[in-house]
Amino acid sequence: PVIRREDYTAPAFWIDTVDLTFDLDPAKTRVLNRMKLRRNPDVATQALRLDGEELNLARVLVNGQGTSFKLDGGHLVLENLPDGHEPFELEIFTTCCPAKNSKLMGLYVSNDSFFTQCEAEGFRRITYFLDRPDVMASYSVTLRADKARYPVLLSNGNLVDQGALDDGRHFAKWVDPHRKPSYLFALVAGQLVAREQRITSRAGKEHLLQVFVRPGDLDKTEHAMNSLMHSVAWDEARFGLSLDLERFMIVATSDFNMGAMENKGLNIFNTKYVLANAATATDTDYANIESVVGHEYFHNWTGNRVTCRDWFQLSLKEGLTVFRDQEFSQDLAGEPSARAVKRIEDVRVLRTAQFPEDAGPMAHPVRPDQYIEINNFYTVTVYEKGAEVVRMMQTLVGREGFTKGMSLYFERHDGHAVTCDDFAQAIADANPGSALAVLLPQFKRWYSQAGTPRLQASGHYDAAARTYTLTLAQSCPPTPGQPHKEPFVIPMGLGLLAPDGRELPLQLATEAAPVPGHRTFVVTQASETLTFQNIDAEPVPSILRGFSAPVILDGGYTDAQLLTLLAHDSDPFNRWEAGQRLALNRAIKYIAEDNQGTRTLALDEAFIEAMRGVLRHPTLDAAFKELVLTLPAETYIAEQLDVVDPQRIHAVREAMREQLAHALADDWQWAYETHRDTGGYQPDPVSSGRRALAGLALTQLCLVARQSGDTVWPGKAYQRFKDAGNMTDRFNALSALVSSGHSLAAQALPRFHALFKDEALVLDKWFALQAGAPDRGGNVLPAVRQLMAHPDFNLRNPNRARSVIFSYCNANPGAFHRTDAAGYVFWSERVIELDALNPQVAARLARALDRWKKLAEPYRHAAREAIARVAAKTDLSNDVREVVTRALAE
Ligand code: ARG
Ligand code: ZN
Repeated sequence: PVIRREDYTAPAFWIDTVDLTFDLDPAKTRVLNRMKLRRNPDVATQALRLDGEELNLARVLVNGQGTSFKLDGGHLVLENLPDGHEPFELEIFTTCCPAKNSKLMGLYVSNDSFFTQCEAEGFRRITYFLDRPDVMASYSVTLRADKARYPVLLSNGNLVDQGALDDGRHFAKWVDPHRKPSYLFALVAGQLVAREQRITSRAGKEHLLQVFVRPGDLDKTEHAMNSLMHSVAWDEARFGLSLDLERFMIVATSDFNMGAMENKGLNIFNTKYVLANAATATDTDYANIESVVGHEYFHNWTGNRVTCRDWFQLSLKEGLTVFRDQEFSQDLAGEPSARAVKRIEDVRVLRTAQFPEDAGPMAHPVRPDQYIEINNFYTVTVYEKGAEVVRMMQTLVGREGFTKGMSLYFERHDGHAVTCDDFAQAIADANPGSALAVLLPQFKRWYSQAGTPRLQASGHYDAAARTYTLTLAQSCPPTPGQPHKEPFVIPMGLGLLAPDGRELPLQLATEAAPVPGHRTFVVTQASETLTFQNIDAEPVPSILRGFSAPVILDGGYTDAQLLTLLAHDSDPFNRWEAGQRLALNRAIKYIAEDNQGTRTLALDEAFIEAMRGVLRHPTLDAAFKELVLTLPAETYIAEQLDVVDPQRIHAVREAMREQLAHALADDWQWAYETHRDTGGYQPDPVSSGRRALAGLALTQLCLVARQSGDTVWPGKAYQRFKDAGNMTDRFNALSALVSSGHSLAAQALPRFHALFKDEALVLDKWFALQAGAPDRGGNVLPAVRQLMAHPDFNLRNPNRARSVIFSYCNANPGAFHRTDAAGYVFWSERVIELDALNPQVAARLARALDRWKKLAEPYRHAAREAIARVAAKTDLSNDVREVVTRALAE
């Protein structure tokens, strides 16, 4: 059943209050749901249709009396409700089985504790309800459970009562002072301990912050708590938004489908985004925790106080909240260069994950028009591209203007369920006369048109007139259901560099004097030109600075221009981008050259010298150097090609990596020796950048050793692996051995496992490293099958399933795409196997073959067959069905 955005109608009933009583039992939990409802006067009188899924219904009472009802395909239908618009009471008693809930939606058990996940449509698995975000109610919740087994009982809002019951049971009563949609409901019950922190807000209010984890994990909660305190302070300082609750709780669970969930006052997190100490977590983990804690906290305003009218508006809260967490991490990073590093990392995610989505069978607008299963639309498009759309708004109205727009948004919509249009309108209305306000209808095409626009730039220098003309042409390829696209509003950050790298003042032909400072031009036409005057020599254009719009820039750059940008651009993003383009151009050339092996591939001196220049640069940050010296990902390279041979791409990229390793061997040694020691562990941007560069250097040095047979560097890597004082250095050293295929890896891996056998998140890394290792003669797939037979493997645990299966199928293209199709066979088996347990996780895995149509033979044919094999199953979930049907379409 396809759900369409245009079919939205307001609910026929409102639910004003909900009073829930849970008797928690893993095998049979009893849920008493007492609601006050009334008819929506704006909608024609009709029956009440409540959503429900996998519930056992025991009793229905209306105003305390028995009533007739029907069960109709997952709906509880009540036809004989009181007439008129007076409120009435509805009491529903159901039971469910949390222990058997392997989908991890609704109420489930993990490690003998109870957790919930209700977004998007999980609440209907707890009780019958109008499970849609525009129905907002006041909740009070009583939890009853065995006291010894479940000493901690949590729900949204404030704890108003608690006490003992008979038979060793106890209860807790929670009242949420804020109205909310059902997807923000949560409860937790189990043996948990909390790190606590009292804070006073700017407004002088006291709050209690708590981070709940299993006993034994308390020493891994400091960073999450610090991140939470930073989040509270940041939202007050940047947007004037304060915490609106007496207490704010985070609870970690090791069984979770996604990253985390912003339930009102009771955020539930995947342990991966909470638990960290220097011994078990890497710098990347620390950074992810900071941004996910921020993200969920920021949802309290952008998502909870103002929520979505319907799920097509998901980006209203997700795009905006990703934008906010990105800004938060940038602000915490502080230094401009550290901010730029964060920006580059964010763009890298967008371009390696979202651009392919936008070009594939699952392409959809930031505000989708239809879906079969909403869980399939928690995507990089809705999240990351959505964040870019919000970022462009900020660019068009300025940072202060954007803050004003946010204020107007809350003034207008606080406490309501609204649309993406409402958001854009508020930002525009707060900034009359801004480019956003003037161009609003056209700007909103970013919400309605799928696909990544291409921006083609060509420059012409007129020496006699001393002018430089930049011609910009935009286009956007067709996507499913959208054959034709209208031009977008593209903010374009621009600079012109003189041949010696100096930044030139920009003065349009229509301007009397140059306008100093950074400039953003707004491209709106299919084709347009910008002419600059008083230019003495042909400049090098630095286009789309800071990645000012989510487009593919076809800059027509020559190598010489790219080398100038890499050496001199004052915009760090474009400086990095120049290095990536130099590498990409070479990769594409080698891939096209049909020399069977890659032995003859030879990187040119100019490129190597440029890379050496960055690596040895006296003032650039280590973190930035690491980003420049890392070659574009295989999936990113693949997106630039019409026909993709994943093994060829892998071989070429590996050969380039090896060449860089050899050619810069002395420089890598220097880099390693100068950056290897970062002192006591701190996850700050400077020391994590140093660790990243040292890690890359070590990997490169081990690669050199692999060819030469030298054992010194692998030996050093092994030593570092054994002695490292933190997980980042330890894991980087292990990964250097594994990725260079050195025999010492065979000693290091079991040692690592023995050291961390009780640390689930570290074991995930151990599994992922092996499943993601570079393929050598097809060795990875057998290794993956063995990993799945390992006693620590567990398909039901999403983190563990992802660490093996996704690391292979979704993140190791060189090993997954095999000429014998065995990778695809493995994939189809796992999709089917997982689908029976957890459709959401299965559907993510199903997307590993999204881009099958681009594959060269024999991959293409074999991939199609594997997808068809999955599609042939008759009992697939909606989740997987939607993905494979779209993959096979037309
Ligand atoms: N709203 C959550 C977040 O972005 C994600 C929850 C997604 N859950 C799901 N079942 N699709 O932080
Ligand atoms: Zn979110």
